[in-house]
Amino acid sequence: MIIAIDGPAGAGKSTVAKILAEKIGCTYINTGAMYRAVAYKLLQIGGKFTEEDLKNILENISISLDKDKVLLDGEDISDKIKDEKVSKMASKIATIKIVREKLVEKQRQMAKEKECVVMEGRDIGTVVFPNADIKIFLTATAEERAKRRYEELKAKGFNIPYEHLLEKIKERDKIDSTRKIAPLKPTKEHIVIDTTDKSIEEVIEEITDIIKKVNLEK
Ligand code: DC
Repeated sequence: MIIAIDGPAGAGKSTVAKILAEKIGCTYINTGAMYRAVAYKLLQIGGKFTEEDLKNILENISISLDKDKVLLDGEDISDKIKDEKVSKMASKIATIKIVREKLVEKQRQMAKEKECVVMEGRDIGTVVFPNADIKIFLTATAEERAKRRYEELKAKGFNIPYEHLLEKIKERDKIDSTRKIAPLKPTKEHIVIDTTDKSIEEVIEEITDIIKKVNLEK
């Protein structure tokens, strides 16, 4: 069974997908972490690269995911890839065809080895698994997403202005949804859940009910 969870940055996809996967005994795959891992590697070489460099990196890179732990060539980069510079670079390189082709191939391979997968990203229900059993599109207003990010960072001791975070969220939304290849958008099969006024528990319950209903209809 493949459960695709798509949606913009900060809509709660990672939190929801991770808890949901654990609850129903499926493997959680965060595809955004894979784009971030490539971005991190490119920043390590100075952020400037030719197409040849990129091809080489994509050929030789080893990315492995274990729940929310991300390993790049054996190094644990789980926290390092949450950095703003990495977010920006990830959004930028996610517009490049060869990057998407390579990572989509890897995502399909990862799911093939599992019986049940909860995969989150931007193009899971459109490109990676157009025949996914269940497609969810999680969204929330940009203001709510910026507010969540602000609170998350504040709890970690970082006082980043809300306005700055809102601007960054809007900037990433624009890149992710207007790019030529695999832009972020729901298909007609996606069930759209607006999480603006919902708790994580409510969203998980809603998705669990959808899964039960789909399984009963099978
Ligand atoms: O979900 P995230 O914020 O960690 O994703 C980081 C970037 O990667 C995001 O700006 C868009 C890109 N991405 C993508 O293009 N396709 C995916 N399936 C997942 C992420």
